[in-house]
Amino acid sequence: MNLVVPEHPLKPSLNDQEREDLIERIKSLLDERQATLVAHYYTDPEIQALAEETGGCVADSLEMARFGALAEQSTVLVAGVRFMGETAKILSPEKTILMPTLEATCSLDLGCPIEAFDAFCNEHSDRTVVVYANTSAAVKARADWVVTSSIALDVVDHLSAAGEKILWAPDRYLGAYVQKETGADMVLWQGACIVHEEFKAKGIHDLKQVYPEARVLVHPESPSAVIEAADVVGSTSQLIKAAVDLDAETFIVATDRGIFYKMQQLAPEKRFLEAPTAGNGATCRSCAHCPWMAMNALSNIEQVLKHQDQEIQVAADLAERALKPLQRMLDFNR
Ligand code: 13P
Ligand code: SF4
Repeated sequence: MNLVVPEHPLKPSLNDQEREDLIERIKSLLDERQATLVAHYYTDPEIQALAEETGGCVADSLEMARFGALAEQSTVLVAGVRFMGETAKILSPEKTILMPTLEATCSLDLGCPIEAFDAFCNEHSDRTVVVYANTSAAVKARADWVVTSSIALDVVDHLSAAGEKILWAPDRYLGAYVQKETGADMVLWQGACIVHEEFKAKGIHDLKQVYPEARVLVHPESPSAVIEAADVVGSTSQLIKAAVDLDAETFIVATDRGIFYKMQQLAPEKRFLEAPTAGNGATCRSCAHCPWMAMNALSNIEQVLKHQDQEIQVAADLAERALKPLQRMLDFNR
């Protein structure tokens, strides 16, 4: 697939006073609009801090979905990527779901168009369809289950124990990891995350020569060789928990570097190192930071709260169908 990957956006450089003023204006707008800010761990530290300060939340994709649905505010501003906004809308159709920009998407979502996916499902009609949350509403609506990385192993284990064969989409690395861990009978869609796919096992082994005592934390969207080098494999929230709980001073982290804000906040005495990607000459695709997450900025948060123009819409019939597999995940988690 020919993916158009955006360059990392150049954000306006603000001095301290300008930034403070902008943050104050956003806080007032959040109040005026009765809105809450829900941010993913991969967004800029200043966005995560603002979400925390204003009573919103910073979380992994599963927790973001739950928080948005339970929030008392009528408007939820989702700082993350499009599938996160769509999930919030499907779970809370009565709420206004805004995003700093509707252009922030995800290579997994882009790499799994509904027409081709539907044909793939039809070829394997004897299988239970399990899709990762990083998909469009239409793909979710075609699925029996939606999972996020924090719950994928448990759900597939449960289905496999009940004798079900699985069709998994879209991330091939996460799928292979789940298959290996659960022993489930799975066929895999061949998608990938352009950020995690770039982590290199050799780079991690080289870094371990320098920091032999370091523990390695890996998100399961990474290639199998990188996962094999891990001490802990898990979703963003599971990796943060490991960073706090493990008795080590240094960590090599194979996921988007936005996560360092929370890790450093919860374990200020520890050292976190970016797992190596493609090295010298690396491009925007290979820098441990998701180019779509990077589209979220304080400036467009202010703009969307002012103009309310970047609103997520999901057709009602589609939302109704996509809700079933999503709700199954939330009920299973409960
Ligand atoms: P989490 O579900 O772990 O937050 O991951 C979402 C994601 O997009 C990872 O790249
Ligand atoms: Fe998608 Fe990868 Fe970005 Fe996560 S990091 S939103 S999986 S492209």
